[in-house]
Amino acid sequence: MGGLIMKKIILTAALFLPVLAVAQPSSQVAWTADQLNFVKAGNAANGEKLAKQCAGCHGDNGISISASYPSLAGQLPTYLYKQLQDYNSGARQDPMMSGFAKNLSQQDAADLAAWFAAQPPAFQSNSPMVYELAEKLVKNGSRDRVLPPCEVCHGGDGKGQVMDIPALSGQNAAYVSYTLKAFKNGERHNDIYSRMRTIAESLSDQEIEELGFYYQNIRN
Ligand code: HEC
Ligand code: HEC
Repeated sequence: MGGLIMKKIILTAALFLPVLAVAQPSSQVAWTADQLNFVKAGNAANGEKLAKQCAGCHGDNGISISASYPSLAGQLPTYLYKQLQDYNSGARQDPMMSGFAKNLSQQDAADLAAWFAAQPPAFQSNSPMVYELAEKLVKNGSRDRVLPPCEVCHGGDGKGQVMDIPALSGQNAAYVSYTLKAFKNGERHNDIYSRMRTIAESLSDQEIEELGFYYQNIRN
């Protein structure tokens, strides 16, 4: 009896193993109530101290020093925390960030997230340019491509929403375009349920370029 059950277990495990090996989860972060409360309880004062090591790239107050680095000020703490965990686990990879994130404990990540989220968001002057393609996608999506409007998730004001949908308003255009391209070609694949990859795959390069400027110029 026991032997038969054992055999069945081994057989079942053998059947599932190859599947598990191929289908890696996009992120290790699961938004349980405990996880949410943990991030919510992040200690911003400690985060401020830890953030000194980030200032060289993300600026003294989370406004990045280069257009190709994302600003972190005013971002959702849950989104920031998830990204740090994703760099830490390897679900998201970047030559600059992966190393930094590996040296952070979960508590450090929650503290940093609390501090950056509390900083005044990036401000970019309103440019007089009109980004027609981008505006259509943000407000209407595309019927032909079955694309939902960006604002359904990222908000009409580009401020994002719980838990893991990031604010985009005021974000650096170069970074937004860069990361959209990374979703498009699958280099960035830490979006749970492929929510961004599915969308980015059908965006043209011209649209990606415009979307960057569109969001950079939204007034906070
Ligand atoms: C040497 C420069 C550098 C330093 C120092 C650095 N970062 Fe980054 N950070 C980057 C770059 C570049 C990216 C974008 C990488 C990518 O495309 O995945 C990034 C991305 C991020 C993201 C994702 C933002 C988003 O909008 O998805 C977070 C969160 C982050 N960094 C937090 C930190 C924290 C916290 C520290 C300090 C402990 C830190 N970084 C230190 C360069 C840096
Ligand atoms: C179904 C909801 C949904 C829609 C619609 C959507 N997004 Fe997203 N977006 C997300 C989620 C979720 C993430 C976070 C992925 C992760 O966990 O890394 C994200 C992340 C992003 C990021 C990365 C931001 C950063 O700081 O790295 C950009 C840029 C972005 N979206 C742009 C867009 C644009 C432009 C559109 C419209 C063409 C759009 N999104 C439509 C859900 C959505």
